Amino acid sequence: MNDTATGAPADVGVLGGGRMGAGIAHAFLLAGSRVTVVERDADAAGAASARVLESVATSVARGTADDEQSAIAARFAASTEVGDFAGCDLVVEAVPEDLELKIDALTRVEAVLAPGAALASNTSSISIDQLAALLDRPSRFVGLHFFNPVPASSLVEIVRGEATDGLLVEQARAWVHAIGKTPIVVADAPGFASSRLGVALGLEAIRMLEDGVASAEDIDAAMSLGYKHPVGPLRLTDIVGLDVRLGIAEYLSNTLGERFAPPALLRRMVAEGKLGRKTGEGFYLWDAP
Ligand SMILES: NC(=O)c1ccc[n+]([C@@H]2O[C@H](COP(=O)([O-])OP(=O)(O)OC[C@H]3O[C@@H](n4cnc5c(N)ncnc54)[C@H](O)[C@@H]3O)[C@@H](O)[C@H]2O)c1
Repeated sequence: MNDTATGAPADVGVLGGGRMGAGIAHAFLLAGSRVTVVERDADAAGAASARVLESVATSVARGTADDEQSAIAARFAASTEVGDFAGCDLVVEAVPEDLELKIDALTRVEAVLAPGAALASNTSSISIDQLAALLDRPSRFVGLHFFNPVPASSLVEIVRGEATDGLLVEQARAWVHAIGKTPIVVADAPGFASSRLGVALGLEAIRMLEDGVASAEDIDAAMSLGYKHPVGPLRLTDIVGLDVRLGIAEYLSNTLGERFAPPALLRRMVAEGKLGRKTGEGFYLWDAP
């Protein structure tokens, strides 16, 4: 296993260069890694490449990158061949949140990796053990849950599956520090740590609004001013999307129990198309989607 001077892996692969994959590629490039993004077709690879190089350019312009744009770009490649991951120390899968798609992608990537290489998934809700079930080397598989937008988010949840090697967890912890972020290690439980706590607070805030306890503004102020949260739970639900939150609440209520049951108000607003910032209306009115 090779690391760069910063302690990041020397060769990193990212499968899927969409919103999250491009951000993950950006993070490792800035830490000195060589990064290969593999996409499903040439058009998507071109779009992923543009996304990554644009966000690198932003960091260079802001003075937050140690290297020149050309030096960073020289360490980056985008392709459509999973075989290009062959020499990677770590591959992070960031394809859409679909179990079948992820299992297919992960098994194809594992087949080209060296036995000691690490394989990770950026899944935000699928069980790491479920994904590991069809892998040949589940001990080398771990969850690396980045947050959106990756360049501005300092947290990474390391999700330890039943079969994940303890040494890989430590290695992942060091890699997360090397890219300038803070790791937390969580067991493979529904919602991990972040979604479970965040959604619990958001759902209770919606129930309080439903019960007429206070206005949306005042419920949010209770948390932003009283508890120093950067954004109140209802405004945050608007930003994330009410449909996204409803989906997570349904999943958590099925796996963890009734306490995560979606409030009627949330269901009604989603049915009415009031999805938050992206539709211009949620618990607040938003200027532009
Ligand atoms: N968006 C978020 O806020 C967020 C936050 C944390 C985690 N996640 C997780 O990250 C993952 C990716 O989410 P996203 O928001 O970046 O999605 P996205 O749709 O922006 O990107 C997915 C990318 O995967 C590519 N892709 C699809 N099939 C592929 C294949 N077979 N091989 C290679 N590439 C393929 C697509 O072309 C696309 O570029 C999901 O598991 C999601 O749950 C998302």
